[in-house]
Amino acid sequence: MNDLQIIENALYGYIPKGLKYEKNLVDSIEYSLKAGGKRIRPKLVLEFSRLCGGSDKSALPFACAIEMIHTYSLIHDDLPCMDNDDMRRGKPSNHKVFGEDIALLAGDALQSLAFDVMSQSSTLENASAEACVRCINILSSYCGTVGMVGGQVIDLENENKIADLSSVTECNRKKTGALIKAACEMGCVCAGADEEKILAARKFGENIGIAFQIVDDILDVTSSDEELGKPVGSDIDNNKSTYVSLLGVDECKKRVDKLTKDAIDALDCFDGNTSSLKQLALNLSNRKN
Ligand code: IPE
Ligand code: IPE
Ligand code: MG
Ligand code: MG
Ligand code: MG
Repeated sequence: MNDLQIIENALYGYIPKGLKYEKNLVDSIEYSLKAGGKRIRPKLVLEFSRLCGGSDKSALPFACAIEMIHTYSLIHDDLPCMDNDDMRRGKPSNHKVFGEDIALLAGDALQSLAFDVMSQSSTLENASAEACVRCINILSSYCGTVGMVGGQVIDLENENKIADLSSVTECNRKKTGALIKAACEMGCVCAGADEEKILAARKFGENIGIAFQIVDDILDVTSSDEELGKPVGSDIDNNKSTYVSLLGVDECKKRVDKLTKDAIDALDCFDGNTSSLKQLALNLSNRKN
């Protein structure tokens, strides 16, 4: 099995089963989890865990948990009260199929499922209880007010005005960077890595996380709906300030290259083979979707 299959097999195994009256909710959760996506965050958990000598078995619950949080963030991000986008991962957005009420609740349920999975006894049998608690702490803080949710608020408050670069950087660091950073740190923590390695993973994640959102903003103006699987021009339609609207595409590409280089440099402190993480960082900086 390749990594995508390893991740998706584990992820789909957590979809709730046997619920009679909540079928619509479960279908909605399943629809978005199975809609595809690059699975970057779970891949980062696995790669950092392997680099630190961990087993895939102990890393997978954390890898799946972060993909659940990410999927919930996308369902909510597309709602009419947020970015109001009708397409996601090449398919109609969750709320276009299941309605806004169920989409909202599917996001809520995915969030709680993530914490359920990380705290299940079968997870504790593989990673140490101490590592599990620390991963839960990392993800709960990075997905909340000081992380993804906080970033989404800055993003909304920057609509319909020309925001300054520092608030857009803070927005990117939180709305997207936080979960990517969490993935890198959690991979190290669940493998029992020391603090120096966790810090290096955080630095790597911080840099590729900001770069990831800048590339997302570039693709929003340079790609097509078909290639991206979501509507291009969403940022312009919502009158958002982004790195691209403030600096232009060429300057953004330079910044992405610099952030990617800084991320790769942060891997120096690992003794193991970092080539796949270096390649992943480069691929993300050059991605087309
Ligand atoms: C999209 O994330 C939202 C951002 C944080 C920019 P991804 O580009 O990772 O989306 P999927 O998971 O591949 O659909
Ligand atoms: C979203 O940023 C980041 C999230 C926390 C979901 P965007 O709004 O730019 O993401 P896309 O372009 O819709 O995937
Ligand atoms: Mg958004
Ligand atoms: Mg959006
Ligand atoms: Mg975008």
